[in-house]
Amino acid sequence: MNTPNVPHSSGKSLELNLLIQSRRSVKPEQFSGKPVDDELVWEMLQNANWAPTHGMTEPWRFFVYSDAARMELGNLLAQIYQQVTPAESVKPAKAEKFRANAARSSHLIVIAMKRQLSGKIPEVEEIEAVACAVQNLHLTATALGVAGYWSSGNAICSTQLRDHLGLAERDRVLGLFYVGYPQGELPVGTRRPIEDKVVWQNGQASGS
Ligand SMILES: Cc1cc2nc3c(=O)[nH]c(=O)nc-3n(C[C@H](O)[C@H](O)[C@H](O)COP(=O)(O)O)c2cc1C
Repeated sequence: MNTPNVPHSSGKSLELNLLIQSRRSVKPEQFSGKPVDDELVWEMLQNANWAPTHGMTEPWRFFVYSDAARMELGNLLAQIYQQVTPAESVKPAKAEKFRANAARSSHLIVIAMKRQLSGKIPEVEEIEAVACAVQNLHLTATALGVAGYWSSGNAICSTQLRDHLGLAERDRVLGLFYVGYPQGELPVGTRRPIEDKVVWQNGQASGS
């Protein structure tokens, strides 16, 4: 685990810094194969449900696959990959990876955005709310010692998968969250300094 890069923190805020900064994207290749209890996945989903939401639309939808169902989803994604990829670019190994990733995972969670009928809240804000929900889910997983990662790509975020899930044309599949227990060292996290990404003005005239 990396040490949080935040000075002056203690108690709860230090715990929070540790949790946020130690959350890593861990891929199924690094899963141990041990199943995660459904109760823990529910805990992750419960916290996802507390994401902020403009207009209380609560647009996040999660489709959870475990046991045999996760293998069926892996097969379906391999088929969709072959459909949506131009024939000359199809890589059989990539199709096979959907099946292998499903087999190595404990649960697969399809991440979707359900758009309200009125469309009053802009689509980008609904996607942003879903991303907040996924962050809650991922942080909760980290706190529980569970690993995972948000995977996207043309097969997962396809209209084919959206239709298969019974979602409407205005809805979107935004990714797939793989769930499992990590094996070995977690990947090392890196970020460029926050100072490079912040413009901070305090209203004081320079030179005064
Ligand atoms: C919306 C979204 C989609 C992502 N899709 C992929 C993906 O398709 N493949 C992948 O390897 N990682 C994907 N990631 C995970 C990033 O690679 C990962 O967050 C990044 O490498 C930083 O690592 P960390 O999450 O461990 O800090 C995605 C992340 C987000 C937020």
